[in-house]
Amino acid sequence: MTDPSSPADHIRCPVTGYTLPSDGTPLQPSPFFAERRQDGRVHPLRYADGHVGKLVTDHALARAVLSDQRFSQLPRRFPLGPADPAPPSVTADDLRALASGDLLILDGAKHDRIRKTIRSRFTVKAARGHRETIRAIAAEQVDILLAQPKPADLTEHVAEPISARVHAHVLGIPAERVQDYIQHYVHGSSAQATVDFVREIVGYRRTEPGDNVISDLVDSGLTDDEVVGLAAVLMSSGRDSVAYTIATTTVALLTHPEQRQRLTDNPSVAPAVIEEFMRYSTMFVALFPRTATEDLEIDGVRFQAGDSVSVSPVSANRDAERFPEPERFDLGRDAFGHLAFGFGPHGCAGQQLARVEITEAIGALFSRVPSLALVDAEQLRPLPFAHVVPTYRAGAVVVDW
Ligand code: HEM
Repeated sequence: MTDPSSPADHIRCPVTGYTLPSDGTPLQPSPFFAERRQDGRVHPLRYADGHVGKLVTDHALARAVLSDQRFSQLPRRFPLGPADPAPPSVTADDLRALASGDLLILDGAKHDRIRKTIRSRFTVKAARGHRETIRAIAAEQVDILLAQPKPADLTEHVAEPISARVHAHVLGIPAERVQDYIQHYVHGSSAQATVDFVREIVGYRRTEPGDNVISDLVDSGLTDDEVVGLAAVLMSSGRDSVAYTIATTTVALLTHPEQRQRLTDNPSVAPAVIEEFMRYSTMFVALFPRTATEDLEIDGVRFQAGDSVSVSPVSANRDAERFPEPERFDLGRDAFGHLAFGFGPHGCAGQQLARVEITEAIGALFSRVPSLALVDAEQLRPLPFAHVVPTYRAGAVVVDW
């Protein structure tokens, strides 16, 4: 068996299929993906329990699979270990609550019913309604960065705190508990302490409702379990992804001076270039695997009932059939249609909010700190995957100014 952490791990084992390659960086995907796109539409992928499923690398098939309801989110199986992830060590009541509201393990009508309860809070209009608050948070964090001794880590002082503070604000975590939220979700704490925190915030919003997501949830007609489960998913989903994208896009701009010039020459283009930021800095090497619920065919490609299927947004977003010269970071291109937020019924629920956060953070950094320069970034080297779902974390981005 090949060592999954070895750079050569994308060499196919004739019996067990490929493992996901670990030689890509967040800005430069492994050559494995370009090779696979030349080499057919689906590719054997070995999952952690030893079974072989299918990897989708081209944009058209990726989009078609993600929008096809004949694929289920269950059973939850992963291409990276552990084969059968142990459930979090929390009480049985908490485990039941977490499962009942976890959008990423629900299908069909139940998924739609639960997701509908948060729709109005995450529309374009709702996200833009947070712009002034987000702008103020971004300005404060840039000030904090500039108060550090040089050089300093932009991920620690800008990317992580903006994502955590905005998440807390939108969800309805009271100001005096934001540091606890950061402790649980950025620095990490036990599963039980984290779910206790979620229950406490939900309880608080039952008695102190406000203009925020969790206050809506407690009034939405969901069961108590579903409210806790959905609140838990929302507290964790996307927080790290926003931090990752701010950090990684900054590295992309600092290593592409001509694109940085384009942005600073014309700051009003910032909202339009967010799609290229997302495409070029894609965080998900593969999404949560889907399972075919029946024998089916899409665009001439056959899937059998029970097949595990992993879609790679990193690969789809570098597909030359969809994005000409895909390796070029180009703020002038139309990157609309990228799959960095997934697609279909499980496409990212918070993507409009994420767009505003990333635009404001990048805008604040590059307009306020014209001398910003890269000293070093973990993103420039292969980063270990952050999760059993193969994503990247925001590495340290050391900057000078
Ligand atoms: C740059 C930032 C973000 C990225 C790259 C991102 C990416 C994604 C992706 C790829 C998925 C789909 C996973 C799959 O299909 O397997 C997803 C789902 C989800 N995201 Fe995001 N996300 C981001 C920000 C956010 C934010 C700010 C929130 C707000 C709470 C959020 C909440 C969610 C939720 C709740 C789901 C599950 C949707 C469902 O299953 O119906 N995300 N995200």
